[in-house]
Amino acid sequence: MAGIAPQACRNVLRQVRGLHTSISQNAEARMKTFSIYRWNPDEPNKKPHIQDYKVDLNTCGPMVLDALIKIKNEIDPTLTFRRSCREGICGSCAMNIGGTNTLACISKIDSNLGSPSKIYPLPHMYIVKDLVPDMTNFYTQYKSIQPWLQRNEAKEVGSTQYLQSVDDRKKLDGLYECILCACCSTSCPSYWWNGDKYLGPAVLMQAYRWIIDSRDTKAKERLAKLKDPYSVFRCHTIMNCTRTCPKGLNPGKAIAEIKKLLSNISEKQKPGLDAAV
Ligand code: SF4
Ligand code: SF4
Ligand code: FES
Repeated sequence: MAGIAPQACRNVLRQVRGLHTSISQNAEARMKTFSIYRWNPDEPNKKPHIQDYKVDLNTCGPMVLDALIKIKNEIDPTLTFRRSCREGICGSCAMNIGGTNTLACISKIDSNLGSPSKIYPLPHMYIVKDLVPDMTNFYTQYKSIQPWLQRNEAKEVGSTQYLQSVDDRKKLDGLYECILCACCSTSCPSYWWNGDKYLGPAVLMQAYRWIIDSRDTKAKERLAKLKDPYSVFRCHTIMNCTRTCPKGLNPGKAIAEIKKLLSNISEKQKPGLDAAV
């Protein structure tokens, strides 16, 4: 700020912050109940149960993750959940909030104080502890689709770039933004019942992302690996996946495109640019 010494600026900021804190502390408390799934593997005789916590929304950030962090810091340090970026990028805070799979960090706390906020782990997953699901099967399935660029004649790493036309690049929009949070897969009834053999919407959308990449020349091999009764065809187009995706993506559509390729209803188009000139 021109004309104001940095120290003066800092003092003003400190006063404003102090004012905010005292206003929120003096305001009438707005107590909200959070009913949270608890299970501790170190207490094998104790069944999973729901535990209620009361949080004053006047002294809490606006998102469900803010409330979870406040509970852990101020009420119960044993409450366990994953989080990292707190801005919808890492996918680690995926959980079931009020009956919907979503990301706690971009999910606003329901300000209705009369109704508790119910928080469960992602459904139909083995649980490591409290809100932490075991993602082992999910990541094994992701690895199985070989999510990296593959070419018949690969260039030496660092020697050249693989070119892509603007139109071909556009085909990746709506696919590459996936953060692998697994909200979609764990909302899919087919994945609940056949999660060992059906790859589920998140992994299939990434499979499609590499199949249609104009620079990747292994589409045929990739599709051949998916051609069995379970990997793709357990999808019955119920579309829970697309409805729940917190990033607004459409994995159900990507699966439909794979089905079309597998059934020879459509085929991968030739690249607009020769990738390795
Ligand atoms: S498609 Fe959406 S819900 Fe599914 S893993 Fe990706 S970001 Fe999460
Ligand atoms: S569209 Fe397919 S992947 Fe999505 S929820 Fe339905 S069955 Fe599952
Ligand atoms: S903390 Fe990273 S997506 Fe929520």
